[in-house]
Amino acid sequence: MVCDILIIGGDGDLAFRKLYPALYHLDLDACLPPCVRIVSVSRTPAPEEGFAARVRSKFESFAGMKTLDDAVWQRFAARLSHMALNATSEAQLVRLRNEVFTDPARDLIVYLATPPAIFAPICQSLWAVGLVRPNMRIVIEKPLGHDQESFRQINESLASLFSEEQIYRIDHYLGKETVQNLLAMRFANALFEPLWNSNYIDHVQITAAETVGVEGRWQFYDEAGALRDMVQNHLLQLLCLVAMEPPASLASWAVHDEKLKVLRSLAPMTRRDVEDCTVRGQYVAGSSGGQSVPGYTQEAGAKPVSHTETFVAIKARINNWRWAGVPFYLRTGKRMHKRFSEIVIQFNEVPHAIFGEQVPLGGANRLVIRLQPEEGIRLHLLNKVPGLDDAMPLELVSLNLSLSDVFTTRRVPDAYERLLLDVMRSSSTLFMRADQVEAAWQWVDGIVAGWHKSMLRPVPYAAGSWGPTESIALIARDGRHWQE
Ligand code: BG6
Repeated sequence: MVCDILIIGGDGDLAFRKLYPALYHLDLDACLPPCVRIVSVSRTPAPEEGFAARVRSKFESFAGMKTLDDAVWQRFAARLSHMALNATSEAQLVRLRNEVFTDPARDLIVYLATPPAIFAPICQSLWAVGLVRPNMRIVIEKPLGHDQESFRQINESLASLFSEEQIYRIDHYLGKETVQNLLAMRFANALFEPLWNSNYIDHVQITAAETVGVEGRWQFYDEAGALRDMVQNHLLQLLCLVAMEPPASLASWAVHDEKLKVLRSLAPMTRRDVEDCTVRGQYVAGSSGGQSVPGYTQEAGAKPVSHTETFVAIKARINNWRWAGVPFYLRTGKRMHKRFSEIVIQFNEVPHAIFGEQVPLGGANRLVIRLQPEEGIRLHLLNKVPGLDDAMPLELVSLNLSLSDVFTTRRVPDAYERLLLDVMRSSSTLFMRADQVEAAWQWVDGIVAGWHKSMLRPVPYAAGSWGPTESIALIARDGRHWQE
């Protein structure tokens, strides 16, 4: 793996918060061959000298990175360099090609840690100066467009220069250990698959709740909203992993093909469905972690009026044999009561009840996959309460598998470590193929269109709550409730 990593936008937040820490940890775990070089470029007139020291000072502000292994840091620092140049300018990129990337035999990974608006001009310039070659790969991150049409435009500009195999579209949720574990849980165990269908499953819930607000990104967020920011990518990717058919192998084409089938089977939302099956919310002032926090339109940089949702709940349906009649309830929001991401598989009740009233309410089996924090899997089963009671009372108890208790000596790598390593290995299973992104946009665009037609505006919810009461009603109308 003789390769160079070029980070465009290397002086920005994503690079400092995620990319350099991930690369340092890969070095620590001996996953970076000695010859790998990491080159940062940015338009900001940051000094080229002393870049490694800047990276180190940023590390120090992260929990868990205050004390570094000295030898590893020295090795890592020696790989780092920075150049102040504008990557959209051919004239300036020539310098990079002539001074740094002089050997075309070395693989080149280009990470665009920049706003998507400049993806196309950067790629054009890379191509013009001869840096686009078969052993080059390009990594991009969301937002990949605003809707299906804008995604197509971004994609076409990339596809005119790179083959699909060269493009790595990151959804960082796919790099999370527990998300990968979903594949293992479903397809490495014989136990679940026979039950994994509408004959045995009543419904599925997917929640990604955050306690944070918009964290200084008001303007960006206001143009996106929770549907585009979280559902179009992270939640739909989770839904795919829960709902897909067993792939023929772990090869990227096999996994991508199955995920695409799920996305294309999502029941399109009519205007009526959108009114009945979606809830938009926006947080107002409340309290989070015992502190008073402002409402969305009182955040720094906010406009006084906004119709952007910071919470969304959706009842989705998948039109295929496996999932006919099984609702998938999706929910995500900012400034919610607790930070947790979880998938709940709610099984049906037994077909014939011999225990009658001894079964507690909501006593059917439930599999809960906790993605974060405290990653683990809980299987809720009915058990007899010990004792001599005549009536044989039952209670729902759980088999509890906490991943950190089982794998005590293993460090859980950050999502970006896994994803960057996979780019180096040319493995694209955990990335998003263009047709998936497009299919996801198509479904999401239907919801946005329905919101516009119905003039469905976000309803308020207090910061620190579980979201608007309408979200509770959405699932309660079906005789169900959110697991919290
Ligand atoms: C990002 C969104 O993709 O995911 C953010 O843009 C969100 O708004 C973040 O906060 C959540 O990621 P995680 O890994 O903290 O669940």
